[in-house]
Amino acid sequence: MPYAHITGWGMSVPEPVLTNDDLAKIVDTNDAWIRERTGIRERRIARATDFPSTLGTSAALKALSVANLKPTDLDLIICSTSTPEHLFPATACLIQDQLGATKAGAFDLLAACTGFIYAINMAAQSIRSGAIKNALVIGTETLSRFVNWEDRNTCILFGDGAGAFVLQASEKPGGILSAVMHSDGSGGDLLTLPAGGSRHPATEATIREGQHYIYMDGREVFRFATKVMVQSTEEALKAAGLTKDDLKVIIPHQANFRIIDAAARGLKLPIDRFVINVERYGNTSTASIPIATVEAVEKGRLQAGDKVVFVGFGAGLTWGALVAEWMGPLPSPRKVNMGRYRLWGRVRSILHRIERFLEGLIWGRRA
Ligand SMILES: CC(C)(COP(=O)(O)OP(=O)(O)OC[C@H]1O[C@@H](n2cnc3c(N)ncnc32)[C@H](O)[C@@H]1OP(=O)(O)O)[C@@H](O)C(=O)NCCC(=O)NCCS
Repeated sequence: MPYAHITGWGMSVPEPVLTNDDLAKIVDTNDAWIRERTGIRERRIARATDFPSTLGTSAALKALSVANLKPTDLDLIICSTSTPEHLFPATACLIQDQLGATKAGAFDLLAACTGFIYAINMAAQSIRSGAIKNALVIGTETLSRFVNWEDRNTCILFGDGAGAFVLQASEKPGGILSAVMHSDGSGGDLLTLPAGGSRHPATEATIREGQHYIYMDGREVFRFATKVMVQSTEEALKAAGLTKDDLKVIIPHQANFRIIDAAARGLKLPIDRFVINVERYGNTSTASIPIATVEAVEKGRLQAGDKVVFVGFGAGLTWGALVAEWMGPLPSPRKVNMGRYRLWGRVRSILHRIERFLEGLIWGRRA
């Protein structure tokens, strides 16, 4: 049975920065309150030209570049997002098109802020079954488009961004060692985007009542989060046959510094064992774990052979953890020029559209 290794990683965040002081001009809040209750100082906000697919594609190209893999080498693309560009087509398919990943199946996975953990686990299981060799897992969000900028309970928390991992089959032991996934739909109403789906399609009333914005019971979500972070980390470690002392770092979902601090105390681990960057990006939901991972690798906090836990929680309710032995890129004789593939993806997409148009004309004439 092959092992599933993380061999590439990349991130992409929009340029515009929204600081706590900027927010204080919009809602009744202040920098001191936000920092004390959440640890957040600033977050990135998508420009009109940024979308989950464009941010996700940029992150994916960087991840493919690290892994030295062409988009056409990919067998599977899983896009984890709670802010898809459409109900359908899947954002994963938009990314597949922008990459020119012509041989890949592509689908979206929605497990909110836990989504990236679920998605890595699904990709790893596909690889270990022998069904596929190369997978791309993306976490991408533009939460700012669903935030009520008049609600100080939520608008201070969220930010936009994307991160991506490449997973590859290898005979070398290591890679994804264990994963646990959990859910409790009875808590679904604690963190929800009530309208816009098939239960409450958009109407004048849903818009008037603000049902297209994120609703959250902050205190309940906080209580849930602190409990499940410790539980799922311990469960995943046990499944991998490891203890917390084996871990180089823990990379948690970046929702709130106080939640991570509570998890550190619950696990009786020093806080500096945790990778934390919530102060600069806020809560980017499913993108937060890969973004924190990329920064940890760049700072040398995660190196080949290190053991790491990814742990997350979110709407659903969902939660989970995943233990991995970090690998880095597999040896490869060639050097892939990723700049060329970004352009090729666009050209290929246009050619396909023209081909479809011409075929339509031909078939139309025959009919
Ligand atoms: C949202 C959160 C930061 C609020 O912190 P808290 O300590 O629970 O604060 P409370 O909701 O109890 O509010 C305390 C007071 O601050 C006020 N307040 C709320 N937001 C505020 C803001 N942005 N600025 C200033 N005051 C604010 C409240 O109105 C309340 O005032 P009151 O006592 O006069 O009623 C916290 O509950 C949290 O982080 N929850 C988890 C959220 C999360 O991670 N969600 C994503 C999960 S993936």
